[in-house]
Amino acid sequence: MSDPRPRRGLFRRMYDDAVGLSQALLQKENVPAKTIATQVVTNDSYQLLTLMRLRDSARKFRIPGMNHALRRTMTVVYGCEIGNEVEIGDGVFFVHPIGIVIGGDAKIGKRVRFMGNNTVGTAKDNGYPVIEDDVTIGAGARILGPIRIGARSIIGANSVVTRDIPPDSVVTGIPGRVVKSIKDAGSPYAAQNERGSVGGGKAGNHE
Ligand SMILES: CC(C)(COP(=O)(O)OP(=O)(O)OC[C@H]1O[C@@H](n2cnc3c(N)ncnc32)[C@H](O)[C@@H]1OP(=O)(O)O)[C@@H](O)C(=O)NCCC(=O)NCCS
Repeated sequence: MSDPRPRRGLFRRMYDDAVGLSQALLQKENVPAKTIATQVVTNDSYQLLTLMRLRDSARKFRIPGMNHALRRTMTVVYGCEIGNEVEIGDGVFFVHPIGIVIGGDAKIGKRVRFMGNNTVGTAKDNGYPVIEDDVTIGAGARILGPIRIGARSIIGANSVVTRDIPPDSVVTGIPGRVVKSIKDAGSPYAAQNERGSVGGGKAGNHE
């Protein structure tokens, strides 16, 4: 997985988020400028990502109280709580931001899709998940502990995942288990992931 938080300036990060979100939506690498501009103006997810980037900058430049104020804003306006040390990749797509909690030093890859009401956190104070690029996290799903979710996998609605998941898996249930490969899955999310053209081909997102 690529480093979701390389050393880039604020505006470069904001631009990369707009491009990443457009890629996540259209599932292709080259997206029209108009689509990128639309994300900036209309997409809640883009606004959330921008708040995260501003929080990073506020901490980096030690602007008193700013990170705290922006974090509160995220919680009050979007109902979404993301910890200071969480690394969020370009174009992460909060389809429904309400009820999303991401804690500790969890790492979220590029274009990961959160369907809403998700927890990414520790299981028993033993570490936080790494979620690779282009994973889809179904509504209500919880991902807990020092585990890795392989690229392009789909975590079914309301699953509770506490073990490593290989790339391209479809996971359901409590505890979450791999039920099939995305190649065999029938859902529209699977169809999108299987096309997998974002980032350059089916294996293109293992960077
Ligand atoms: C996991 C998911 C992607 C599977 O889709 P799929 O590949 O089309 O798989 P199927 O519908 O063929 O289901 C395969 C099996 O898993 C079961 N299953 C599907 N989703 C499940 C879930 N979330 N929890 C438990 N079992 C589930 C099905 O009943 C089926 O069981 P069976 O083989 O005994 O009949 C999909 O059901 C899902 O949960 N998507 C998330 C949707 C979401 O979050 N929407 C929010 C919109 S706001």
